[in-house]
Amino acid sequence: MFKIVEKEILAPNIFSMDILAPRVAASAKPGQFVIVIADETGERVPLTICDYDAEKGTVQIVVQSMGSSTKKMAVYEKGDSFKDFVGPLGVPSEFVNEDLEELKKKKILFVAGGVGTAPVYPQVKWLHERGVKVDVIMGAKTKDLVILEDKLRSVADNLYVATDDGSYGFHGLVTNYIEELVNNQGKEYDVCIAIGPMIMMKFVALTTKKLNIKTIVSLNPIMVDGTGMCGACRVTVGNETKFACVDGPEFDGHLVDFDEALKRQGQYKTEEVKKDHKHHE
Ligand code: NAD
Ligand code: FES
Repeated sequence: MFKIVEKEILAPNIFSMDILAPRVAASAKPGQFVIVIADETGERVPLTICDYDAEKGTVQIVVQSMGSSTKKMAVYEKGDSFKDFVGPLGVPSEFVNEDLEELKKKKILFVAGGVGTAPVYPQVKWLHERGVKVDVIMGAKTKDLVILEDKLRSVADNLYVATDDGSYGFHGLVTNYIEELVNNQGKEYDVCIAIGPMIMMKFVALTTKKLNIKTIVSLNPIMVDGTGMCGACRVTVGNETKFACVDGPEFDGHLVDFDEALKRQGQYKTEEVKKDHKHHE
């Protein structure tokens, strides 16, 4: 069993939990994820790692309660335990194995959208701890949904916040902010790492293609086993079939077939809604 040692509400329907999982905490690297199984009847829920502390043996996850499985997780409180906590899964971010001196020369931009801000944090923290300065754009629908702002501000060189409705920070989408920084404020970037909803990553990739900035995205398609066996998470990248759980989750954003990925994710959402309705009957 894996004990919840801390729980915090970050925004409406978004909460973080610190889970006691020393083995995962000791080996987790930026870019990786976990699969959580709440109880005997629980489904396997893939979740991004927001933070980890090898000394305390804890791993922090951030969950948005949307489907039936995450809604079930939301009722768990501090002191309760999950049945299983599998990970770390997936390939760590590319930069983890890059030469540090080369990395320091690069101008890196992170783009975090909504709940996708959670997996951006450990990446920026890892780089900050090694003296690599990066800029971060974070976008949310409204001020209420801006999460982890203080944590990110403490590790980012520059943090740019945008809201869709203009209730806080820059008024516009993250893609508008990328264009504002590059076209109007004279910023230059060699690499962009974008994590957020699939539709955001699609449009960030289109924007950075125009601006000629190499782009990495972290895909979160449907996952079932998380071990490369079931095929549920398959995505097309540069005309090749990849499994996000073992080949990813990070891929070259300019090569991902987003339209196919969005279509497959849409089918899944319909299933989740159906399941929810069944639940309420
Ligand atoms: P959201 O819909 O509020 O979007 C966040 C930001 O993305 C917006 O503020 C906007 O700036 C930008 N954006 C959205 N649509 C855009 C478009 N068409 N063009 C340009 N920019 C756009 O985000 P949310 O509701 O927090 O997102 C939830 C989704 O994020 C879920 O579907 C979840 O599965 C996904 N998610 C992905 C990851 C990942 O690893 N990729 C991690 C956590 C959550
Ligand atoms: Fe089954 Fe990736 S989740 S192959």
